[in-house]
Amino acid sequence: MKINCIINKNEISAEVNERTRLIDFLRDDLHLTGTKEGCSEGECGACTVIVNGKAITSCTMLASQVDGCEVITIEGLKQNGEFDILQKNFVEHDAVQCGFCSPGFIMSAKALMMNNPNPTLEDIKRSIEGNLCRCTGYIKIIEAIEDAVKEVNK
Ligand code: FES
Ligand code: FES
Repeated sequence: MKINCIINKNEISAEVNERTRLIDFLRDDLHLTGTKEGCSEGECGACTVIVNGKAITSCTMLASQVDGCEVITIEGLKQNGEFDILQKNFVEHDAVQCGFCSPGFIMSAKALMMNNPNPTLEDIKRSIEGNLCRCTGYIKIIEAIEDAVKEVNK
C-alpha cells in the first residue's frame, strides 16, 4: 500500500507492505538507523520515535499506521547543524555508555518536553518508564533531562 507522511519535516511518499513494521520502514527503507531495535516486543523502548507528538515504540507499530502522520526520529532533532539540548545534556552528564538505549530515552524525553514545558521530576520519571538502560543507570539520565528542561525554561 502507499503511505504519505512527514518524517523529520520531509514529506515522504512510499510503497510499504501492510505487514512492515515502522522500525523496519525507518531503518531499512529510509536508512534512519539512529532508531535502535532491542527487544522487538515493546518492552525496552530502544526503538522509540515520536508520532503526532506522542512517544511510541516503532517495533509495535506498522508503517501503514503512520499514513497521514508526522514522525520524528532521533535524526530529526538536530536543527541547523546543532544537536538538541537533550542530546547535548546526555553527553555532558555522562548519561551515555554504550549508547544503544540513548535515542529511545531522548525521544521519550523530547515527547514529554513537547507536551509539557514544565514537567516535574515525577513526570520525567514517568516519561522514561518504558525505556531500559543496561549500563549507565538512570540517575544521570534523569539529571540530563532535568537540566535540559531547566535550560529551555531559562
Ligand atoms: Fe521496540 Fe524494544 S525494540 S520496545
Ligand atoms: Fe548502554 Fe543504556 S547506555 S544500555
